[in-house]
Amino acid sequence: MWTVLKLLPLLAIYSAQRGEAAEGKETQRAGHVSVVIVGGTGDLAKKYLWQGFFQLYTTQVDGGHTFSFYGGGLSPEEQATPVLFEVLKNVSCSADTPALRCALLKDQFLHLAQYRQLKTPEDYGALGRHIQERLQGEGVEEAGRLFYLSVPAFAYADIADKVNNGCRPAGGAWLRVVLEKPFGHDLRSAQTLATQLGGSLKEEEMYRIDHYLGKQVVSNILQFRKINQKSLDPIWNKRHIERVEIILKETLDVKGRIPFYDQYGVIRDVMQNHLTEIMTLLTMTVPKNLSNSQEALRNKLQIFSLLQPVGMRRAVIGQYQAYNGEVREELNKTSEQFSITPTFAAVLMHIDTAQYDGVPILLSSGKMLDERVAYARVLFKSDIFCVQNPHNIHCKPKQIVFHFGHGSLQHSAVLVSKNLFKPALIGSEWREVTEHVDATMLGLPISDYYVQAPKVEREAYAELIGQILSGRKDCFISAENLLASWGLWTPLLHSLSGSFPRIYPGGEDNGNLLDFRLRGTEISYASDAVVIIHPEHMGGSAASAESFQVVQGKFRSDNMVSAWGQELIAKLATDLQTVAEAAVSEGGAFHLALSGGSSPVALFQRLVEHHFTFPWRKTHLWMVDERCMPLREPESNFHNLHEQLLQHIKIPYYNIHPMPVLLNQRLCVEEDGGALLYEKEIAHLVNGSRFHFVLLGVGLDGHTASLFPGEKAHERHGDSLVALTESPVKPHQRMSLTLKTINNAQRVGLLVIGKMKHELLTQLSRVKNNPDKWPVTGVHPANGKLVWYLDYDALLG
Ligand SMILES: *[C@@H]1O[C@H](CO)[C@@H](O)[C@H](O)[C@H]1NC(C)=O
Ligand SMILES: *[C@@H]1O[C@H](CO)[C@@H](O)[C@H](O)[C@H]1NC(C)=O
Ligand SMILES: *[C@@H]1O[C@H](CO)[C@@H](O)[C@H](O)[C@H]1NC(C)=O
Ligand SMILES: *[C@@H]1O[C@H](CO)[C@@H](O)[C@H](O)[C@H]1NC(C)=O
Repeated sequence: MWTVLKLLPLLAIYSAQRGEAAEGKETQRAGHVSVVIVGGTGDLAKKYLWQGFFQLYTTQVDGGHTFSFYGGGLSPEEQATPVLFEVLKNVSCSADTPALRCALLKDQFLHLAQYRQLKTPEDYGALGRHIQERLQGEGVEEAGRLFYLSVPAFAYADIADKVNNGCRPAGGAWLRVVLEKPFGHDLRSAQTLATQLGGSLKEEEMYRIDHYLGKQVVSNILQFRKINQKSLDPIWNKRHIERVEIILKETLDVKGRIPFYDQYGVIRDVMQNHLTEIMTLLTMTVPKNLSNSQEALRNKLQIFSLLQPVGMRRAVIGQYQAYNGEVREELNKTSEQFSITPTFAAVLMHIDTAQYDGVPILLSSGKMLDERVAYARVLFKSDIFCVQNPHNIHCKPKQIVFHFGHGSLQHSAVLVSKNLFKPALIGSEWREVTEHVDATMLGLPISDYYVQAPKVEREAYAELIGQILSGRKDCFISAENLLASWGLWTPLLHSLSGSFPRIYPGGEDNGNLLDFRLRGTEISYASDAVVIIHPEHMGGSAASAESFQVVQGKFRSDNMVSAWGQELIAKLATDLQTVAEAAVSEGGAFHLALSGGSSPVALFQRLVEHHFTFPWRKTHLWMVDERCMPLREPESNFHNLHEQLLQHIKIPYYNIHPMPVLLNQRLCVEEDGGALLYEKEIAHLVNGSRFHFVLLGVGLDGHTASLFPGEKAHERHGDSLVALTESPVKPHQRMSLTLKTINNAQRVGLLVIGKMKHELLTQLSRVKNNPDKWPVTGVHPANGKLVWYLDYDALLG
């Protein structure tokens, strides 16, 4: 008795995998099944669905059910019928079917199929009556009706309503309606769709398909974990798992799919669904009874409740360079409209349990990458240091790889590195692969793995279609599951909605541009590279080339670096550190002059958080300008510098040089000689009064430092290094480095960020040097270098 009980669930799994009905389930009454593919002449139907249903038919033909097939669509019958039959003729038999039998099966299949126009409620009613009459005419009992909605998601609710009102089977026969992603756009829209569908269909009637769950390796993850539980239990935890990776890399772009893709992006397209499902299968508690879908669902939902919220700092996003050209072409956008839809993303997750606490779980996917491959890897920690023989298997990575296909290994497989354990075979439909192809998989030659693969590779859709017929829902997405997943992703999607993706060229050229670094619960791009977009990379169209013409490394005939905001700041911070290190190694000190204002704040944060090796102890900080007010006032530049930077770094206080705006208890009085005092301090400490780096901004009126239009600075300041100046806005009095000091610097950085500055930059790109009108145009280091740091918002508006 016991053995039978234990075997039953396994049998149920295997038979379902073969697309056969599991015997003895109440849902499986024999009889006639009507299959309706709504969207029956569409791409998906052409490519996968009819083939899947044909396969289903061939396995069922010798017993079990009888079938009729309907391709439905909006076009009239006389127009679409020939199209449908072209598609149907195209189906193929499995390799082991004799030719004659195959021809017979195809012929039967064609005879059982017809096209129906399915547009109005009446069309659905007519189909319902047609099925009923046919059943009565042939005297067969009805098992059920299967509607496959291969149409855009916005049509689901309406079709479900028509099916419910006009085409529901009577008398105990089942109704199953298959839906394809996208199931909504975020949590709210998914809830709305669920409510709408719930008005017409019961939850058990809905089969939300995620074709990834039909892939043999994916659908057997739990089975693998179960039969290898003895080996896995001791190591499936934070003490042994280094990290979990779920990766889907593609080489293609999204040309031709832009109207869909631009609304969704990589996270909604594949991460919220495929990758998330795989993540839960890898991390959920293995159900005691694999055939109990209730238990499986419960365990899955538990993972969602234990996942730490995913915010912006747990994600990096990218977009391939030609994307916006494609968007403009397919959506008729002008060159000013810029899509920031990500085509690449990497997201870091953590599960708050004793078992997985601190284990990084990484999900990543992208278009236009170097190779097409999909896998999940569980990488284990290694505590062995190999002194002499690094090629020994004990010295190599310990990992389990679920390989879903493509890549160097052409078939799907489960691979366990030989330094872990020898896994049990997943089932009778699997074989141990011993003939080793000359390939490597994630750092190990295939021969270093125990490899098992399905004896016969099956198309995911065919697999799932078989399960729909047998009424098995384990490999489909339940409403709760769906909403839990949207609940996880929606906050991230909202927080990323204004973020600019890193632009990448695509393919091999990406180099290490998309490499990212995991640090605790955060993830960031590993390189501080800045992509400068050259017109020739911009996908060819003339409009796109024009809009980037200015970004050629020159602005007002000086050097320019341009990038999206964060990238730009990262680049500036890196440049600063490079200059600082060179100065320190040359003369033992780095003299940096910083201006006030809001632009440098992001730079300060970056320096504090990312540049731990910055030589602060050898750095002298000087002020470019100061407002004439006590330094403790919130509006004082020094006060801001202190708040944003000084209090976060270890810099000796005698290296900090605030401007002496308050002397003799008076603010900026000429006779008190504050400017002269600062000048002397500079001359005393800075070799040749020549700063290594002066960081400037520019105001909307063209002022820089505290040098304002109409100042007649050249005449008034003469040879002074520091001067008192007059601002048009309060507080009027300022102290500022003069153009002479600025232009004496080795390097000057002009940082301009934000859309607000776009008009200004456009003007500046045209005007001649006129420091009296545009003080910033007087910045020309005599023996140094000026670099403009402009973000795309400022540059392109
Ligand atoms: C025939 O089938 C192949 C795949 O098996 C598919 O790529 C092709 O589009 C199909 N042709 C038609 C006319 O449906
Ligand atoms: C496993 O679950 C299935 C489906 O719920 C059930 O029919 C079967 O009896 C269960 N098996 C055991 C051993 O509990
Ligand atoms: C784009 O413009 C072309 C020609 O003006 C037009 O045929 C096409 O339908 C438009 N596409 C969209 C998505 O608006
Ligand atoms: C100071 O500057 C001069 C000329 O630029 C240079 O020759 C000298 O080495 C510098 N001294 C130090 C200590 O950096």
